[in-house]
Amino acid sequence: MPVSMVGRAGELAELDRAWSAVARSHRSAPAVTVITGAAGVGKSLLVAAALEGFAPRPAVVLSGAARVHDPAPYDWLAAVLSGRDTGGLDLPADALAWLAQQPDTPRERYAPGALLRVAVRVVRGLVGAGPAVLVVEDLHALDPASLNLVGELATAADLPALLVVASRPAADAVAPDLTVRALARLCGVRGAVRQHLGPLTAAQVAEVLTQVYGSRPAHRLVNAVWQRTGGNPYALTELLAAHSGQGVAALFHSRPAVPRPAAPPDVELTAREVEVLDCLVAGMSNKQAARALGISVRTVTVHVSNLLRKTGSSSRTEAALWAVRHRRPVSAPPAG
Ligand SMILES: Nc1ncnc2c1ncn2[C@@H]1O[C@H](COP(=O)(O)OP(=O)(O)OP(=O)(O)O)[C@@H](O)[C@H]1O
Ligand SMILES: [Mg+2]
Repeated sequence: MPVSMVGRAGELAELDRAWSAVARSHRSAPAVTVITGAAGVGKSLLVAAALEGFAPRPAVVLSGAARVHDPAPYDWLAAVLSGRDTGGLDLPADALAWLAQQPDTPRERYAPGALLRVAVRVVRGLVGAGPAVLVVEDLHALDPASLNLVGELATAADLPALLVVASRPAADAVAPDLTVRALARLCGVRGAVRQHLGPLTAAQVAEVLTQVYGSRPAHRLVNAVWQRTGGNPYALTELLAAHSGQGVAALFHSRPAVPRPAAPPDVELTAREVEVLDCLVAGMSNKQAARALGISVRTVTVHVSNLLRKTGSSSRTEAALWAVRHRRPVSAPPAG
């Protein structure tokens, strides 16, 4: 039941403007747009919708999300490099392999400063003549090396790119002070655009309900749903999913949803999420979990992200603890 995006017209237009400026002129440094907002408020959807509409089409899109809460150095770049052919890049193969977090790469032999320079050159190499869009998702969950790289890219000379950064507020970050500093650095770049997404209005919630149920529900119902979800699109989609196949009136009888999509009292996990959670409890990295389950690292990342959201955890360790507290171990010995 995919719902198409409501509202955000102003934000979309601003992103469009930023992109056409990059695409038309040959700016000497990237244009920077920073999108902040609470968990589930619609940052990623906005970025995806904007990207889809960009004209002319970007020659290159480099997009990476933090491998949530398994922070390895240069995670953003590793996500960008995953599955990408880097044969054409004139860079040391061992440094590239290390930055791409390829398994069995020998421990780094480069000084941090040298690695940062290589990382910037990797991005330059991939952007080429551009124009490119660089998407940094979940800045709040990124490792310090990635934050540094993103900051560096934001002011890199002769990089024909639009840099779009999405982040939850620093208060929600694993390392709030690092996030504060990274956001400040990005927003301080000349011409940087800052967008803060708030919850949906009641009218926008009504629009979503109209999409789903085919006709505009009564004002009273819209208001009830708006209040229960706090206008948070994620909470709204969860509420709708929980009552899919039932009439709109079922929303009335639903238990109140938490405005912030954290710590729902009862958490429904898919079979796959349960498997991934077991991997987290076992202390596996995303890469190890991917291998164990025979799925891609990217897919594991998505599951972990959903698990954190559903369990209201802010780290994979917290999610593992949640699992231990709330679920019976799979192979528990019979109680005597
Ligand atoms: N404006 C909108 N209209 C309709 N649905 C929306 C809107 N914004 C977000 N959604 C839906 O709400 C859910 C959460 O959105 P999204 O993942 O973009 O949030 P986010 O801000 O990126 O969250 P996070 O902080 O967890 O990364 C998605 O299912 C998305 O499709
Ligand atoms: Mg997101």
